[in-house]
Amino acid sequence: MERILVIGANGQIGSELVEALAIQHGAANVVAADISPASLYGAQVYEVIDVLNAQRLADVVGQYQITQVYQLAALLSATGEQAPLKAWTLNMDGLLNILELARIRGAAGQPLKVFWPSSIAAFGPNTPAVNTPQYTVMDPSTIYGISKLAGERLCEYYFQKYGVDVRSIRYPGIISYKSPPGGGTTDYAIAIFHAALRGECYPCFLEEETTLPMIYMPDAIRATISLMDAPAAELSIRSSYNVAGVSFNPRELATAIKQNLPGFDIHYAPDSRQAIAATWPQSLDDAQARKDWGWQPEVGLQQMVQDMLKNIQVTPKELHKAA
Ligand SMILES: NC(=O)c1ccc[n+]([C@@H]2O[C@H](COP(=O)([O-])OP(=O)(O)OC[C@H]3O[C@@H](n4cnc5c(N)ncnc54)[C@H](O)[C@@H]3O)[C@@H](O)[C@H]2O)c1
Repeated sequence: MERILVIGANGQIGSELVEALAIQHGAANVVAADISPASLYGAQVYEVIDVLNAQRLADVVGQYQITQVYQLAALLSATGEQAPLKAWTLNMDGLLNILELARIRGAAGQPLKVFWPSSIAAFGPNTPAVNTPQYTVMDPSTIYGISKLAGERLCEYYFQKYGVDVRSIRYPGIISYKSPPGGGTTDYAIAIFHAALRGECYPCFLEEETTLPMIYMPDAIRATISLMDAPAAELSIRSSYNVAGVSFNPRELATAIKQNLPGFDIHYAPDSRQAIAATWPQSLDDAQARKDWGWQPEVGLQQMVQDMLKNIQVTPKELHKAA
């Protein structure tokens, strides 16, 4: 029986991951944790944890006899650029604390399986942008991307050197309606739906032809859990797997929204996030994920747009956070 800890449970991904894991493993076997007060999201237990506090982490993992940790706490690409040192400390030390704990517990015969997400931000301006290969030039130019690339190397290092069972996905931009996004460069693709449903013209912070890899939340959750459930022997990558969902640009997304809401309008007012997006891939080659653990995206652009428009709840608070 697995006992699961999700750190960053209050975030865009964590909240939905906790819900899915509680359904899969039972609410009593999932501990939701975050530095901020969180809801339970279907788990039975919530703990306040600062991932930078290694002792607190060890105590909670010991107390609940945790066998799997999902370490999602991070500063994302856009917010990271506002506070680079804070982003570096949180993103690197948070991961290192988990990997060290897994190393120590593994040596004591109490294995701890780890999930940690990397990002398309780990690529950079000299990476081939179309169908970006699994192994290629990686020269990230944001502090966030640099931390993700370093994190990938740490994951592989801890696997090779200490046998830590760590697994990772280079998430594309994640589109969802339940929780607001956390300050990334792909957040426009969520904020646009809120504006459309409020009957507002959306001021897009990326240029209209800026194509980026994205993924709908149900696909992202399924990918994450599939990777964690895959037999260790079938995994050939312990840095981080390319995983593709659907690629589109703001013009294509706006067109798909207009097909459902004909009055919707968009204008373009690129800001500093455009420069970040310009260094990222447009699409990903995820052949290795498909081969190793059977990855297959299910949700395309049209279906995603219809689902978002059907389910999104526009509250003033959500709109403020998504903007
Ligand atoms: N959302 C995306 O599109 C996307 C894309 C690529 C990668 N990722 C990665 O996925 C992970 C989760 O992303 P998200 O979008 O859910 O982020 P988010 O910002 O929505 O959530 C992060 C959560 O971490 C918590 N947190 C911050 N500092 C903490 C600390 N010291 N200790 C414990 N918790 C702390 C925050 O309170 C927040 O609830 C991150 O590692 C991110 O880099 C996300």
